[in-house]
Amino acid sequence: MIIVIDGPAGSGKSSSARAIANRLNIQFLDSGALYRAVTWHWVQSQKPEFETFFKILPETELQTEYRDQTFFVSVNNKDITAEIRKHNVAKHVSKIASHPKIREFVNNYMRELVKEDVYVADGRDLGTAVFPDAELKFYMEASIKERAKRRFKELQQSDPGVTLQQVKENLEQRDHSDQTRAADPLKKADDAIVIDTTGKTFEEQIEEMIKIIEEQLKLKH
Ligand code: DC
Repeated sequence: MIIVIDGPAGSGKSSSARAIANRLNIQFLDSGALYRAVTWHWVQSQKPEFETFFKILPETELQTEYRDQTFFVSVNNKDITAEIRKHNVAKHVSKIASHPKIREFVNNYMRELVKEDVYVADGRDLGTAVFPDAELKFYMEASIKERAKRRFKELQQSDPGVTLQQVKENLEQRDHSDQTRAADPLKKADDAIVIDTTGKTFEEQIEEMIKIIEEQLKLKH
């Protein structure tokens, strides 16, 4: 069973999915981390031409586990949980994630995984392309100003030189490329419930989502 949360960068979907997983004691699946893992593998393989990379992709083994509030990712038994957050992965991930063969590889992994347990997953295209039959779909939104402010605050520790304006511009660029790419763009599913987090506290928003999950999933039983 799966609950999906899609939305643009900085809308709060990842922290919401984690909070929901913790509250309901279910599994958390971070689909962006899988695209980052494949990107790490491509960088590690000396950034080959895509045709060459696609030959090694089928033999590539992904492993994931959510434990101690962390989504762990391994490629071919090497734990790369910290590596995938680094700039040399982040700067290539959009390009890698836009390729249909890479999307198919990641999607197949996710579809197999969720057969085993109950999951809440966050991404861009989960409700539309990957899990069109998900038991429950959320689409999270927040104003660009608020999303930029949140990301800026998060980056204060790791990237103190960055300005609010740079963060806002980066989010606008990512929104544009996520929404306009040919393969499975970011889009609200027709049957997704919209959660606009502008002006809400994190706790308020989680309460709202938990209430919806409890109501909706009870109705379906
Ligand atoms: O959520 P994130 O920033 O870790 O995602 C990393 C990249 O992966 C981002 O550029 C968008 C892409 N992505 C995607 O194309 N589809 C998803 N379901 C999740 C992420």
